[in-house]
Amino acid sequence: MERTLIIIKPDAVQRGLTGEILRRFEQRGLRIVGMKFMQVSRELAEKHYDVHRERPFFAGLVEYITASPVVVIALEGTDAIAAARKTIGATKPVEAEAGTIRGDFALEIGRNLVHGSDSVENGQIEVANFFVESELASWERATDRWIFE
Ligand code: RTP
Ligand code: MG
Repeated sequence: MERTLIIIKPDAVQRGLTGEILRRFEQRGLRIVGMKFMQVSRELAEKHYDVHRERPFFAGLVEYITASPVVVIALEGTDAIAAARKTIGATKPVEAEAGTIRGDFALEIGRNLVHGSDSVENGQIEVANFFVESELASWERATDRWIFE
């Protein structure tokens, strides 16, 4: 079963969109295995966005994700990575389809509300960066057999 790390970024929390965004992932059928409200440290932000370290927007990106608290969620499901990214929408909100989180609520790339892991490998790595094992639940929902075939 794939795992993805979702971050409800500071702009989304500040705008009161936490519930709306979580609702969309729940509605999709993805299973929550970890969730917490936290302040991301500079150290963790730099680790999380390490692939972008040499990019001109790196400093702004670290400022953004550490600006105020976030909600981090570990989700599990069939093709969880691809499913979550479709629900999130394109990186540039103006290019995101209506019906996606970014397409419905965002305008600018540097205020794009939510993060989702981009590969199976990064899903595993990012969940491990944000959660310790005891914060992750191994469980089954009564509805799982009606969502997962
Ligand atoms: P995320 O990692 O946050 O889920 O977003 P993503 O996969 O759709 O986009 P990615 O390429 O991983 O970029 C990470 C975040 O960096 C900011 N960004 N700014 N100014 C720019 O050209 C630029 N490009 C990327 C965005 O906030 C993006 O979500
Ligand atoms: Mg990314």
